[in-house]
Amino acid sequence: MQGRVVAAGGRSEERPSRQINVILRNSEPPVISQTLPDAEPAVISKTAGQHQGVFAEIQKELDQLIGLENIKELVYEIFALLQVKQLRTEAGLLAGSQVYHMIYKGNPGTGKTTVARIVAKMFQKMGVLSKGHFIEAERADLVGEYIGHTAQKTRDLVKKALGGILFIDEAYSLARGGEKDFGKEAIDTLVKAMEDYKDQFILILAGYSDEMEFFLHTNPGLPSRFPIQIDFPDYSIDQLIQISESMVKERDYILMPQAILKLKQHLVAEKNESPHAFSNGRYVRNVIERSIRHQAVRLLNQYSNGSPGKLELMTIRTEDFKFDKNSNK
Ligand SMILES: Nc1ncnc2c1ncn2[C@@H]1O[C@H](COP(=O)(O)OP(=O)(O)OP(=O)(O)O)[C@@H](O)[C@H]1O
Ligand SMILES: [Mg+2]
Repeated sequence: MQGRVVAAGGRSEERPSRQINVILRNSEPPVISQTLPDAEPAVISKTAGQHQGVFAEIQKELDQLIGLENIKELVYEIFALLQVKQLRTEAGLLAGSQVYHMIYKGNPGTGKTTVARIVAKMFQKMGVLSKGHFIEAERADLVGEYIGHTAQKTRDLVKKALGGILFIDEAYSLARGGEKDFGKEAIDTLVKAMEDYKDQFILILAGYSDEMEFFLHTNPGLPSRFPIQIDFPDYSIDQLIQISESMVKERDYILMPQAILKLKQHLVAEKNESPHAFSNGRYVRNVIERSIRHQAVRLLNQYSNGSPGKLELMTIRTEDFKFDKNSNK
C-alpha cells in the first residue's frame, strides 16, 4: 500500500512511503484520513520514520534465517506495536506498557539464541531497552551452593542484565530438583526481580518444549508472566540443506551438487537415528565447518607444487564430507 496520506480537504501530504506502512499494512481503506479532524494535517513523526529504518535492518537479519515464519511474523507484530505506541504517545493518546518476557520452546540448534540476539537488538534500537546487551546464562550461573547464595547470585545476574536481555538456556533445569533444590530459590528470585525491575530488562527462558511446559506448571505465577511463547520447530531436511547453503555462502564457499546430495542423505540418516538428540542448525554448522577443514587438507595435498585457483578454493566436493558412519561414506 502506498505511503501517501490524504488529509481531510483533499490535500495530500507527501512523505516517505515507509513511514506509515505499519499502520496501513493489511488494513482496509486508510482510516486515518477519515478520522482526522478537518483542519488537522497528518502528523509526520520523525521518530517513527527512524524506526522504520531500524526495522529494515532487523528484517534483513531475519530474512537470512531459513523458515521460522511464525517468529518473523511475531517480531513484526512487536515492531508494529512499538511503532504505533510511539505514534500514539506523540498524538497524546494513552500508550500502555506491555510485558515482553518470553519463552522459547524448541530442540537444540533450532535458532533460539540467534533469534533472541536479533530481538535484543530490535528492542534496543526501538528504545525499549536502554543498552540492549545480551546475557546468556544457564543454571550454574544462577544457582549457588548454600542457602541464600542462590538468591544473591540470581540478583547479581539480573542487575548485570538491566537495560538488556537475560536469556536463560535450559531454564527447566531450575525446576528439576523439586522443592528442596536451590533452583526453586532462583525461580522465586527471578519472579520477584521481574516485578522489582519491571520494564528494565527482558527475560527470555529457553529449553525443550516438554520440559518448558513442565517448568511453567511448577509455579502458578509463571505462565502469565510470559505472555509471549514461541515454538521453534525442528527443521526439515530441505531447510537444513538451505541452512547449509547459506552457511557456505556466508563463508565464501560453494557446495558441488553431488556434495549436497551426500549431505542430504547423511542428514536423513542422522535425523532418523536420533530424532530427539539431533541438533538441527548446530549440527549442520559443525558438518560444514568440518568439511571446510577437510577441503583445506585436500587442497594442500593436491597442490603441493602450485596453488589452487579461486574456484577450487571455494569448492566443497563430495570427498570433503567425511561422515563417521560407514553407511554414509
Ligand atoms: N533458521 C536458520 N537459518 C540459518 N541458520 C540457522 C537457523 N537456525 C539456526 N541456525 C544456525 O544454527 C546454529 C545454532 O543456532 P542457535 O544457537 O541459535 O540454536 P539454539 O536453538 O539456541 O540451540 P541450543 O538450544 O543448542 O542452544 C547457529 O549457527 C545458527 O546460525
Ligand atoms: Mg542456544
